[in-house]
Amino acid sequence: MKILVTGGTGYIGSHTVVELLKAGYEVIAIDNFDNSYPTVLDSLKKITGVDIPFAEVDIRDKKALKAFIKATPGIDAVIHFAANKAVGESVANPLKYYENNVGGTVNLLEALQENNINQIVFSSSCTVYGEANPPVDENAPIPVANSPYGNTKQICEEVLRDQTQASNLQVVALRYFNPVGAHESALIGELPIGIPNNLVPFITQTAIGKREFLTVFGDDYPTPDGTCIRDYIHVVDIAIAHVAAIKFLEDKKQASAFSVFNLGTGKGNSVLEAIQSFEKVSGKKLNYKIGPRRAGDVVQVYASCEKAWNELGWKTERDLETCMKSAWDWELALAK
Ligand code: UD1
Repeated sequence: MKILVTGGTGYIGSHTVVELLKAGYEVIAIDNFDNSYPTVLDSLKKITGVDIPFAEVDIRDKKALKAFIKATPGIDAVIHFAANKAVGESVANPLKYYENNVGGTVNLLEALQENNINQIVFSSSCTVYGEANPPVDENAPIPVANSPYGNTKQICEEVLRDQTQASNLQVVALRYFNPVGAHESALIGELPIGIPNNLVPFITQTAIGKREFLTVFGDDYPTPDGTCIRDYIHVVDIAIAHVAAIKFLEDKKQASAFSVFNLGTGKGNSVLEAIQSFEKVSGKKLNYKIGPRRAGDVVQVYASCEKAWNELGWKTERDLETCMKSAWDWELALAK
């Protein structure tokens, strides 16, 4: 099968390209390098030995996107990562998020329909659940989103579901919990632009000296150590789940045209546990301070993953220490 990967040089996209090739799929990737770099293609070649067929295409540019897909015969399915993902930025600039994440998805669906491409795996997020009772399963209610970013994920899921009703489109939406870590080669990983918002890149940047200290956002939450709890999942496990989702579509295993799956480990860890894990695998003492709560943070969220285990036949294989070790190796490689 030939798979088009949008956002193919991004954090999760690049790791997924590696796993698709490993599993024997043919890949073609697009990206607009808004939040990634062309050098990722060189790294992908080093890892896979393959010159990834690639085109610089912006999914907001409907004409260019359609022309590209029309001129690329044989695409069987699409994995759609291309999107913006910074919660704070989405609050400050919601139109950017609606245009790129929602508008871009609509453009893509039009292009797929015109070219009779009927299978798509969509990059969604556990953010759609907001404050829910963990372990959260796929039937948990979807409350009003607490950011424009979160809203774009909810809307895109609805757009995709509606399109399955109106056409022969088949959709798998994957709701990621907290993707962290990097490829074991330390050739690809997360490349936050500017000051990272997310915990793990902030930890590694502090340990390497790019940041003076990490602020732990609140230690007065109703959790065992007072800090928030999340389900940290290794990015390679997430990438492998996309291969499983493609296989699921290929084997026509879905009970309905629109399926959603949580991608998590099923285990929650606190911020302090994440720090301890990092200190253990890196041998470095992290400079951190307890600060006030961050607005908008949920207290604790982790996944019920049974649906993915049972239907996709996929399970995480990497633990928190492997996540932290790979994130640290990646930060060390970047420093070189
Ligand atoms: C955030 C987004 C979520 C998005 C996900 C992508 C928010 C509110 N949510 O999730 O929508 O899908 O990123 O990966 O932004 N923390 C600190 N100090 C820091 C940074 C984080 O203590 O400097 C804590 C946070 O309070 C949180 C945990 O670390 O408890 C994880 O934070 P983060 O990595 O930003 O992820 P989420 O907030 O869970």
